[in-house]
Amino acid sequence: MLALKVEFKYAEIAKLALIEKGLMDKNYELKKDAKHIYFPITGKAELDFPNKIVQMNFDKRENREDWKSKLVGDKSLTQKQAELMVKSFDVMGDIAIIEIPEELEKAKKRIADALLKMHSNLKVVAKKGSEVSGKFRVRKLEVLAGENRTETVYRESGCAFEIDLAKVYYSPRLSFERERIAKKVKKGETVLALFAGAGFFPIVICKYQPKCKIVAVELNPVAVKYMEKNIARNKMETSIKPILGDVKKVLGGKKFRRWANRTTLPLPHSAYEFLAEILDSMKKGGIVHFYYIPKTKVESAFKEAIVKIKKACNEKKRKFKVVYKRIVKTYAPHVDEVVIDFKLLN
Ligand SMILES: C[S@@+](CC[C@H](N)C(=O)[O-])C[C@H]1O[C@@H](n2cnc3c(N)ncnc32)[C@H](O)[C@@H]1O
Repeated sequence: MLALKVEFKYAEIAKLALIEKGLMDKNYELKKDAKHIYFPITGKAELDFPNKIVQMNFDKRENREDWKSKLVGDKSLTQKQAELMVKSFDVMGDIAIIEIPEELEKAKKRIADALLKMHSNLKVVAKKGSEVSGKFRVRKLEVLAGENRTETVYRESGCAFEIDLAKVYYSPRLSFERERIAKKVKKGETVLALFAGAGFFPIVICKYQPKCKIVAVELNPVAVKYMEKNIARNKMETSIKPILGDVKKVLGGKKFRRWANRTTLPLPHSAYEFLAEILDSMKKGGIVHFYYIPKTKVESAFKEAIVKIKKACNEKKRKFKVVYKRIVKTYAPHVDEVVIDFKLLN
């Protein structure tokens, strides 16, 4: 079998990259030796951390992840009903967030109770009650089993985040991006963490590079309240300054003119609308991490994103060079979220 061999220090980033690219073979157990971890994989991919592809045998994994068959086994669902459920669910801290198709509305409590029983680390099971929507990018949640709360503590990259999942945006799937960017930040950099939510990007960046100065801007007052708590919880008050406000207004004045070495823009549907103000705030040589989701199916989200960047840079007479790009995740069938890192050359 194919295996991805990485040193222990790259284990977490390798796991996230393989899950994201759909290359992890979950039917087999991981293996370790004194220095390395070996992931069973279903194919090869270009990865931006040191790794080797080797051949080895793995032990078959006990089918503990297949909660659908367990639900059938304990008679919570019929086989037919189980087929309707999506296989995976997100876990944030001690809360599982599941999708329940309309056809299973009547069985939702039974499903949630069974899931709660299956995983001792879970205290709450909640159902997605809507898509992520509105300017604060929040999703409605309906608690189905366990304690009646949507607040939890989520851990990522050695940082702890307190967050109310029904009031603030969250995405465990961006953890790879946060680590990828955090590892690039150099000592003394000035970073604008825009659309910062509960502080995930700035806090992970500060964990990797405590000797930098981060200004984190967010419009949702509840998210800023959690960001402040999270900055204190992770003891980063001297490096991160949270600002409650609209990115356009905060960057519109003179204060941040040519201020930043780097900026993160995790608002993929509309970050391009802020590029004029963002470009004004960037120093020569600065790096912009630009996230983008096209409005409709397009052949290449990259091409469309670059058109937006070019237009904004032309208007501001800034020259740029793309230094990195990748697909972050599939947003909808045939619609990808992409990230483009570009460097300002003047
Ligand atoms: C997709 S979320 C990303 C949140 C966070 N960076 C994360 O990784 O979890 C986008 C965030 O941008 C915020 N936002 C939307 N429009 C904004 C604006 N004009 N100025 C500042 N923040 C804004 C939303 O409230 C939301 O928290």
